[in-house]
Amino acid sequence: MNPPWAMLAELTHACPLRCPYCSNPTELAARSSELGTGEWQRIMEEAAALGVVHAHLSGGEPLLRGDLAAIVATADRAGVYTQLVTSGVGLTERRLGELAEAGLRSVQLSVQSATAEESDRIAGVSSFARKEQAAAVVRAGGLPLGLNVVLHRANLDAVGEIIELGLAWGVERIELANTQFYGWGLLNRAALLPTREQLARAEAVVQEYREKAGIELIWVIPDYFDGVPKPCMGGWGAISITVAPDGRVLPCPAAYTLPLDLPNARDRSLAWIWERSPAFTAYRGTAWMTGPCAGCPRRERDFGGCRCQAYAITGDAARTDPACALSPDHHLITDLVGGGAWTYRRPAPTHVGRFPD
Ligand code: SF4
Ligand code: FES
Repeated sequence: MNPPWAMLAELTHACPLRCPYCSNPTELAARSSELGTGEWQRIMEEAAALGVVHAHLSGGEPLLRGDLAAIVATADRAGVYTQLVTSGVGLTERRLGELAEAGLRSVQLSVQSATAEESDRIAGVSSFARKEQAAAVVRAGGLPLGLNVVLHRANLDAVGEIIELGLAWGVERIELANTQFYGWGLLNRAALLPTREQLARAEAVVQEYREKAGIELIWVIPDYFDGVPKPCMGGWGAISITVAPDGRVLPCPAAYTLPLDLPNARDRSLAWIWERSPAFTAYRGTAWMTGPCAGCPRRERDFGGCRCQAYAITGDAARTDPACALSPDHHLITDLVGGGAWTYRRPAPTHVGRFPD
């Protein structure tokens, strides 16, 4: 067992946007249950001691936390590189300055499509203009800026315009992430599911831009369509650790729904959780594998695919990921038909809260 090198810190589930593809759980953690500043600072120190070198500060919208700079400063002092993953709403010049001074190293900004009208329609909230301003603020502040776009039926046809938008905003990298169906995304799977033709067209456009754009373009594969499962999280409990707003610690950001006894950073050290907790050891390695995975030559490469997907689709997290063409459950994916309307993500049970002034 190696130590984790990456941590996803979900500082809050609250968010001003209502994206239907959100991978946060449909049972969002309430603001009243969130970890305090001192607890996050201790977690950052424990993470560094455990071997984490890179923390993604995410949510929800992490800028809703007024103590974000204090958390960044602690991570930086402990030797952890921090990246802000944000909708851009609430990222003012003052806020960015405070975060950069505390040691923030880079920003990843989300956008929902290439035009204000479409982006706002998908986000369920008027937000495009503030994203544009946020991009300008980050460029002026001199921090590396990446764009993150979740792709689906409603925006795949605009992938060329989305890349052009990223170039106009001066980003250094665009992550084009085909929707992973967890949380709200799973609830809205039919409405988000693209057609094979859409995917083929979009991939060809991305390939064209790879040759001429001069920036890094990441294409996160749509595993529902390839018959090849993704090596999810680089393996269970292998390289990454997720901390939820209320202190629950998960092997991946979608494991909320699995029948696991999730440990909590309020009660246990991250080292114990990583090394010994039943949640992290459950699917580590290959000994737990059943079905075709158990004897498959690819098992050390894809780790049997995704446990959360296996559970969501078959009710058994130890089955072969149905995205795999060798899975006896593969038809549960290939039989799916896309279309229909989506349900917007609803806000946290308690009020989303205000951005710090
Ligand atoms: Fe991967 Fe299992 Fe499919 Fe083999 S059978 S390719 S190990 S998911
Ligand atoms: Fe949880 Fe793949 S998302 S293991």
